[in-house]
Amino acid sequence: MTRDEILNKLVDKYRNQEQPMNSYLEGLLHAKPINYWDYIQVEALFGLQKTRTDFPDEFIFIGYHQVTELLLMLILHELKQATAEEGVSGKTLFEKIKRVNRYTQVAQMSFDVMRDGMDPEQYNQFRHTLTPASGFQSASFREIEYYCTDLWNLVYSHKKEELKGSKNVDELFKFIYWQAGGTDQKTGKKSITLSQFEDKYLAGFKELATSCQTRNLWQQYQRLPKEEQTDELRNMMKLFDQTFNVNWPLVHLRTAEHYLEHGQEVKAATGGSDWKKYLHPSFQRRMFFPELLSQEELDNWGKGEIVF
Ligand code: HEM
Repeated sequence: MTRDEILNKLVDKYRNQEQPMNSYLEGLLHAKPINYWDYIQVEALFGLQKTRTDFPDEFIFIGYHQVTELLLMLILHELKQATAEEGVSGKTLFEKIKRVNRYTQVAQMSFDVMRDGMDPEQYNQFRHTLTPASGFQSASFREIEYYCTDLWNLVYSHKKEELKGSKNVDELFKFIYWQAGGTDQKTGKKSITLSQFEDKYLAGFKELATSCQTRNLWQQYQRLPKEEQTDELRNMMKLFDQTFNVNWPLVHLRTAEHYLEHGQEVKAATGGSDWKKYLHPSFQRRMFFPELLSQEELDNWGKGEIVF
């Protein structure tokens, strides 16, 4: 654009807003230039690592959790756009899922920072100050699921057949898979980790899950005209499903084993779950797009990493 064209557009803009353009232009004379540190909010970002002990590796633990939460936030940012309206095209859906998958792969591939990047002796001491907090209480992780699939796909695996197709959000949340990570299977009593999580987030989760029932990724895919339901799109959806629901949970589980089985005995987790069982993806059998999987893929779901 030429300078005159820009000026004309500015005149139009401020006239439409009934604002005094000259005053805005004069403001430009005094405005300070933007810089990197203010724009990215570096100081605020670096002020967010509040350790509870003096073990240096606790800083890594907090920092990497924050990195992961930012990745989850970026995933949500894409998913919100992909599900904002019903008429999304196959091309847009593909691009959004590709981005979401890329972030998930970053989370999966960088998990070594947790697995090998901390001293187990330090970890096993500072972690006691975190009880009963747990990554289990990450709301972003659960919210992603509502944007991706029908809620009945997220119930206990033994309840899936019975609840298939149900739209009763209250009923489905009674059997939501993550209850198993916070409920004593013998007494049925909820752990404090789960109770706190539900007190803070359950009402919001139900609201979000209700609004996502007709617009999650699976619903968006099904609404596409047949010619836009391409193999390329289906493969990208399967890859994301595998990365989010199998590959990341597997590296996470191996990390938990690395620390909690370090030494003589298997240690209890800060969130108090039966973690070795609960965290295994073949126990949870979480999947977003089961209709896209072959019988063989369904039978082997969660048993190991697969690259499509
Ligand atoms: C040394 C590193 C880590 C260990 C030992 C660990 C261990 C565990 C354990 C044992 C659980 C089961 C719940 C409980 O009883 O506490 C859990 C759940 C969870 N953790 Fe971690 N974790 C680690 C790092 C992370 C990181 C970096 C994140 C990223 C946000 C994360 C996110 C989660 C999530 C989302 C769950 C719930 C998983 C589910 O419901 O399937 N964890 N973690």
